[in-house]
Amino acid sequence: MKPDLVTLALSKGRIFEETLPLLKAAGIEVLEDPEKSRKLILPTNRPDVQVVLVRASDVPTYVQYGGADLGVCGKDTLIEHQAEWGGAGGGLYQPLDLHIARCRMSVAVRADFDYASAVRQGSRLTVATKYTAIAREFFSAKGVHVDLIKLYGSMELAPLTGLADAIVDLVSTGNTLKANHLVEVERIMDISSRLVVNQAALKLKRATIKPIIEAFATAAQPA
Ligand code: PRP
Repeated sequence: MKPDLVTLALSKGRIFEETLPLLKAAGIEVLEDPEKSRKLILPTNRPDVQVVLVRASDVPTYVQYGGADLGVCGKDTLIEHQAEWGGAGGGLYQPLDLHIARCRMSVAVRADFDYASAVRQGSRLTVATKYTAIAREFFSAKGVHVDLIKLYGSMELAPLTGLADAIVDLVSTGNTLKANHLVEVERIMDISSRLVVNQAALKLKRATIKPIIEAFATAAQPA
């Protein structure tokens, strides 16, 4: 890879769409639409900047190992990644809350499950989630004993099929919960996306990376 080429890792969907205005503020325009193209490396109007498309949970890994110099990923993804790396963060420099892709991490249960009583009585809860580090920390701080079941998607199904009493998942509009007759019973934390930077790249490619970070910082405003 050319040393003067800066690579930004993004995931398709909401993060990609909401990063575009920030890129524009930095004078960067992505030249292909990921929803139409099958390409994983997207050129930009700048010969020294390219975008790579990876799964959301792979963004910190790409940036950590230098497969990408910069990346945008949710606070949820970062916490889970850092938990896997013993909290060290694996050489990731996390400089900036971009205030995009905002949502919340919550606990949800079936509408007919009395969560408050179960917690009050000290019952052991079975909790299904993709976010095991966040769930473990949250329930441990509350003093609630949980058996965690790791899932990779469609968490809403777990309480409906009897797999779990509760789920820990991202909630945005709340429509997915409502459609599946689940109710939000606790808000664990607010989530938004962060710009992460490879520490070595920040030193070696500072002339290109620094202005991008600064433009993102100016353009990223809390709603
Ligand atoms: C998230 C989350 C919920 C949904 C909530 O999934 O897991 O399923 O969004 O959004 P809502 O409150 O607006 O209905 P996402 O679409 O990010 O995909 P994922 O299942 O791959 O995480």
